[in-house]
Amino acid sequence: MPTDTVDRWSPSSWRERPVRQQPTYPDPDALQATLSQIDHLPPLVTSWEIDNLKEDLAQAEAGNRFLLQGGDCAESFEDCTADVVTSRLKILLQMSLVLTYGLNTKIVRVGRFAGQYAKPRSSDTETQGDTTLPSYRGEIINSPEFTEAARTPDPDRLLKAYTHSGLTLNLVRALSEGGFADLRHPEYWNVDFMAHSPLANEYQRLVDDIGTAMQFIDTVAEHALNAMERVTFYTSHEALLLPYEEALTRSVPHKEGIYNLGTHLPWIGKRTNAPDEAHMEYMRGIANPVGLKVGPDMTPSKLRTLINHLDPDDEPGRLTLITRFGANKIADRLPPLINMVQSMGHSVLWCCDPMHGNTERTNGGIKTRRFKNILGELEQAFEIHAAEGSRLGGVHFELTGENVTECIGGARGLKANDLERAYKSLVDPRLNYEQSLEIAFSIVRKYRALHK
Ligand code: PEP
Ligand code: CO
Repeated sequence: MPTDTVDRWSPSSWRERPVRQQPTYPDPDALQATLSQIDHLPPLVTSWEIDNLKEDLAQAEAGNRFLLQGGDCAESFEDCTADVVTSRLKILLQMSLVLTYGLNTKIVRVGRFAGQYAKPRSSDTETQGDTTLPSYRGEIINSPEFTEAARTPDPDRLLKAYTHSGLTLNLVRALSEGGFADLRHPEYWNVDFMAHSPLANEYQRLVDDIGTAMQFIDTVAEHALNAMERVTFYTSHEALLLPYEEALTRSVPHKEGIYNLGTHLPWIGKRTNAPDEAHMEYMRGIANPVGLKVGPDMTPSKLRTLINHLDPDDEPGRLTLITRFGANKIADRLPPLINMVQSMGHSVLWCCDPMHGNTERTNGGIKTRRFKNILGELEQAFEIHAAEGSRLGGVHFELTGENVTECIGGARGLKANDLERAYKSLVDPRLNYEQSLEIAFSIVRKYRALHK
């Protein structure tokens, strides 16, 4: 990119580039009025939290931490409730304890929450019968019902997304201050499903070991244990709706850099990664750590361009590559990309998203994912990085703490005809509580097999 353009970055310089995946608002003045309102509202997160996350991710790059990123595909306003938020934190915390113990490393916890409200779509419109309406693009834009009123992009939703993000964060922060004390004890976990797994004995041993370790800490640490009751959750979402991201992108006193203060870790999705377009322009200038989704169509030379664009100084913790190929493609696609990064001498954090390359439809047309493919991609990611002299430093899941039936398989053996029983996701299918915990056990199993 010519230097004159590099110098001209600002939170709004993306507006001079072609932009994808944006809604068309019928009343641009109303949109502008809402954006001006958000401009004046307090930030959702702080620059020092963002800097701490970058430091944690730098540690993960160096092999001293492991990233666990997870949450809904798409948050909904309706699910901004005590139960849903709490159970999502619980499962993430339980998974992170399993991983801390099993991988013998600290875990960086990042939620897909408090702002994961905008979704990329393959088509701008959806047709049912004779009617064509704008596609559903997430709660920050429109509503899923197939009516003209529901599907018309509504600027008030930006404000609603901002307030619901704030409400979610408020509960996350309060619970993180000590509301999870019990969860350190696996005797409070719901692990009945393990009995249905052929690996039941092995998993039970892991749970018992974690319980023993926690009891030991309780015994020796006495008061110091209070420190352990506090846990840190960072937030992340796809930085898709650029006017909203821009309204929360600000400089802070006594610090260099301009931060996106709407989330700690914004990421760029697979459909908006053209180097000379708006999303890349926006992301290159912010001071946050950033994620980049990497799909099966990514070539080594495009990846090199994007890395140079997003992280020209090879700053520790700046760039997380979230790969999402599919269980049947990762073996072919990942090694050349690892080799490219190695040949650049660049340090990035490699994270595996085993969800988005493994989406399929049942014969009945329901969107689902198979547990065995999710696990298959994950296990291959560990193996391939190890074989290439690289390191898998994190995992990324779409999950919920609720007992939904959206993904097929797992110890309970959910089948295609179980899916309708409790299918709630508005967009992509998520792992439920049991499937998520089982995945954490399986990661430990794979990791130990590779590192024995
Ligand atoms: C997502 O993470 O929900 C998503 C749409 O991912 P991708 O851009 O990788 O398809
Ligand atoms: Co998704």
